[in-house]
Amino acid sequence: MGDIFDKILKNPGPLGQYAKVAHGYFTFPKLTGELGPRMMYRGQEVLVWSLNNYLGLANHPEIRKIDTEATEQYGLAYPMGARMMTGESDYHEQLEQELAAFVEKPAGMLMNFGYQGIMSVVEALLGRHDVVVYDGEAHACLVDGVRLHSGKRFAYKHNDMESLEKQLEHARYVVEKTGGGILVVTEGVFGMSGVQSNLKGIVALKEKFKFRLLVDDAHGIGTMGAKLGGTGQEQGVQDKIDVYFGTFAKSFASIGAFVAGEPEIIQYLKYNTRSQVYAKSLPMPLVIGALKRLDMMRTRPELKDNLWTIVNALQKGLRDVGINIGRTTSPVTPVVLNGNPQEASQVVYDIREKYHIFCSVVLYPVIPKGTIILRLIPTAVHTLEDVDYTVKAFADVAYKLKNNLYSKEEYAIGAVPQI
Ligand SMILES: Cc1ncc(COP(=O)(O)O)c(C=O)c1O
Repeated sequence: MGDIFDKILKNPGPLGQYAKVAHGYFTFPKLTGELGPRMMYRGQEVLVWSLNNYLGLANHPEIRKIDTEATEQYGLAYPMGARMMTGESDYHEQLEQELAAFVEKPAGMLMNFGYQGIMSVVEALLGRHDVVVYDGEAHACLVDGVRLHSGKRFAYKHNDMESLEKQLEHARYVVEKTGGGILVVTEGVFGMSGVQSNLKGIVALKEKFKFRLLVDDAHGIGTMGAKLGGTGQEQGVQDKIDVYFGTFAKSFASIGAFVAGEPEIIQYLKYNTRSQVYAKSLPMPLVIGALKRLDMMRTRPELKDNLWTIVNALQKGLRDVGINIGRTTSPVTPVVLNGNPQEASQVVYDIREKYHIFCSVVLYPVIPKGTIILRLIPTAVHTLEDVDYTVKAFADVAYKLKNNLYSKEEYAIGAVPQI
């Protein structure tokens, strides 16, 4: 007989294996100070490009004010209990209606966390005779939702419509026997690459395969679409999304999430989404705060304009100096460099310690060996000067990588000061 802890101590996991060298610097870094483009990191001011604070609401004075006032009035406990039991309020219902209208759907359901929420929405929608077909690079929460499904599942190659069609054929073969239905699951904007899901291509297959479509638009809500209503709105297919998911964790700069769709389906989800039925309702300050955020998204066009001014300047600037930013068509801006893990560490070290730029790094095993992705998240509160400075810094870094300068001692990773 074994001890489960023995296994854990021997194998810390695919990401945990790097903890010894990475913890506190590459992973779990501590940014302090007011949320925004200038924060403190290890005693130095850094230019931050790693917060999903797209519209700059995190530290907006009006948002800070309403969050504070609502907390003073209600505290963090109210309402106590799950929605179904004792956790309901007029504000929760109002927010659901306003969110639904914002994403062009008739009904909505609030959720206390996005990850658990959408996971169990996927589970609740599916019975064992149904089949789920999902994008191979979908976010972990969708994959976990798919894992909870007791019936068949098929992954299609990332954003590949031919592969989707093939998997839908497999799915149809199954449901013709079981009598079940098909759910297609994807992200709206893929959070690592910034690529939009080909929603137009997906919905074009709806007639042939009669499936329902669930879109996780965590990075699309508040950034995409003429009225910031998301990736479906951007592509003119919002009405073909059957279940729309948005989180408050990014452009809303808060916590909580929601799904929206047809009233009967939302009513079903209110009674059957286990992570919500059996969990505490969203606290009132978060609900009132979300109403204010939504109001600002609807009435302050400058938020969207500022965001996209920075996005366009940053992406154009990086492309102009020859940096590969992949195929992004959203604010998410990956800087794709070639280098081994050692060089990747040195690049991050250089960017942070010499240029005082803070951005997140994605390495193998999340992406293929030999590639380094630094992910930049432009926001409405960055400036064009921030963009210029950053473009120049990345041009320098790319030059150093190309000319093997990171093999020189001054960049050695041992030079990273001890934490
Ligand atoms: C695509 C996507 N879906 C879902 C989530 C989870 O949302 P939350 O942070 O609200 O739990 C995230 C991360 O925030 C995400 O990037």
